Amino acid sequence: MDILFHDVVIVGAGLAGLRAAVELAGSRDVAVLSKLHPLRSHSGAAQGGISAALGNAEEDTSLWHAYDTVKGSDYLADQRAVQVMCNDAPRAIIELEHLGVPFSRLPNGRIAQRPFGGHTRNFGEAPVQRTCYAADRTGHVCMHTLYEQSLNHGVKFYDEVQVLDLCVTDGTVNGVVAMELRSGRLLLMQARAVMFATGGYGKAWKTTSNAFANTGDGLGIVLNNGFPLQDMEFVQFHPTGLYPLGILITEAARGEGGVLRNGEGERFMERYAPTIKDLAPRDIVSRSIYEELKSGRGAGPGKDHVLLDLTGLGSDIIASRLPEIESFARVYAGIDPSREPVPVLPTCHYAMGGIPTTVNGRVIANAAGDEVPGFWAAGEAACVSVHGANRLGSNSLLDLIVFGRRCGKDIAMWLERAGAAPEVGSGVLERVRDGIDRLLGNRNGEKVPELRADLQRLMMDQVSVFRHEEGLKNAVSELMELQRRSRCLGVSDTSRQFNQELTDAIELQHMVNYSLAVARSALERRESRGAHSREDYPDRNDADFLKHFLCVMDGDGA
Ligand code: SIN
Repeated sequence: MDILFHDVVIVGAGLAGLRAAVELAGSRDVAVLSKLHPLRSHSGAAQGGISAALGNAEEDTSLWHAYDTVKGSDYLADQRAVQVMCNDAPRAIIELEHLGVPFSRLPNGRIAQRPFGGHTRNFGEAPVQRTCYAADRTGHVCMHTLYEQSLNHGVKFYDEVQVLDLCVTDGTVNGVVAMELRSGRLLLMQARAVMFATGGYGKAWKTTSNAFANTGDGLGIVLNNGFPLQDMEFVQFHPTGLYPLGILITEAARGEGGVLRNGEGERFMERYAPTIKDLAPRDIVSRSIYEELKSGRGAGPGKDHVLLDLTGLGSDIIASRLPEIESFARVYAGIDPSREPVPVLPTCHYAMGGIPTTVNGRVIANAAGDEVPGFWAAGEAACVSVHGANRLGSNSLLDLIVFGRRCGKDIAMWLERAGAAPEVGSGVLERVRDGIDRLLGNRNGEKVPELRADLQRLMMDQVSVFRHEEGLKNAVSELMELQRRSRCLGVSDTSRQFNQELTDAIELQHMVNYSLAVARSALERRESRGAHSREDYPDRNDADFLKHFLCVMDGDGA
């Protein structure tokens, strides 16, 4: 085992992690750990853009942005945090531009902006152009820019290194234990500050826009260490996943003028959201699609999807502003979107919940709001609660950049004041070694593919867009059984080098643990709010449920 020392260890090389690294680089010894090559991080898949009120006061303001974000969150978002995010937004865009992000431009030279769901002005009267973009590859270009800047400024990258556990001594986080995938060697990385930017966890659902890597490792580790997760019941389904695979078809397609149609050719969003129609917030659009299917108005022989009609845009607009969508439609559905509508269905997309943090990214330890010294989190893994019960499209890239930067700034301040980190005890290493030995020594144990398929099916069937008590109770008891089985997982490949079976098993244990947190929180929340839609409690209930749930692991699971 190797022992390494850094001032700061950032786990995750997506946009939140890289933005924090860029903030700290130069003056601090910063290491970024990633289980993939950084440029394969899921932030690179964000297509449509990043929101910011760049306009003059008559066109748009940060206050309207904050208003829409709180309303879109179904009033659960922390309003102070929302204000911080929306006020920081214009500066975040200018900084990105100065770092080198090639935003699309208007003929007059200004950064181009497009409408996105739920972004309006005048109390929802009309859509507003608030989302800055680089065609439909916004995340991709931001990733390349920040990665290049990190390398230029001396950030040390540990690629293909999987985090396994957190080092905590007397309540202070002082490092992580990780595994180098190419050798299987364990690394003890001691640090004065640890930041988790480990991304989302949509891989627990069968149909998802998420990458294979989005297995919520950071959340699983946080639960294992006795820290809480917040707002886990709120999981967003993006309305337009390419049917049947669930690959993301950006909301920008509707921002540019695309419309949803049912199997009868009707533009059905006019009935559900007469003012902003196809640009309603995602929770509303996803539910509306399922209502259409339930009423027998789906498209195709099985009447099991709806259609995204881009034929009115013209091939030039599609080629210049939605080139990635054009190629996805051609490659995965054999369709030319300028001639034929694209089959779509909601797909599990984004986790509003996660590791609770302050607006400076400090991880919160309990309901009293105590902070965990030495520990920060940002991005989709975190829950600052700027999205509440439903996130507006293009607020996620903003969240990554704003709170990644704020973490960087706060960590820099902390390093100035805090003393040396306490010594890491031997307990965490023993725990990690035991866990790995148990998986490698149990060749006849439960197998990952079956257990993972059972989990993904269960979450898709019982814990998706519509939920009810019976299904959630059933999900909780089945998840407890899956949790028991996940503790008996076995790996038949006993080598240590690039042992995919081993890393899959480790990830699956996390997936089962946080899925239980999702199902338990969903069962507890007996109301409908944002992405959490209970058929047995169809109304929002502010009197009893205008609050957040924290979930911790006890002996029986989350
Ligand atoms: C999209 O382009 O629709 C996805 C981006 C986001 O989720 O904000």
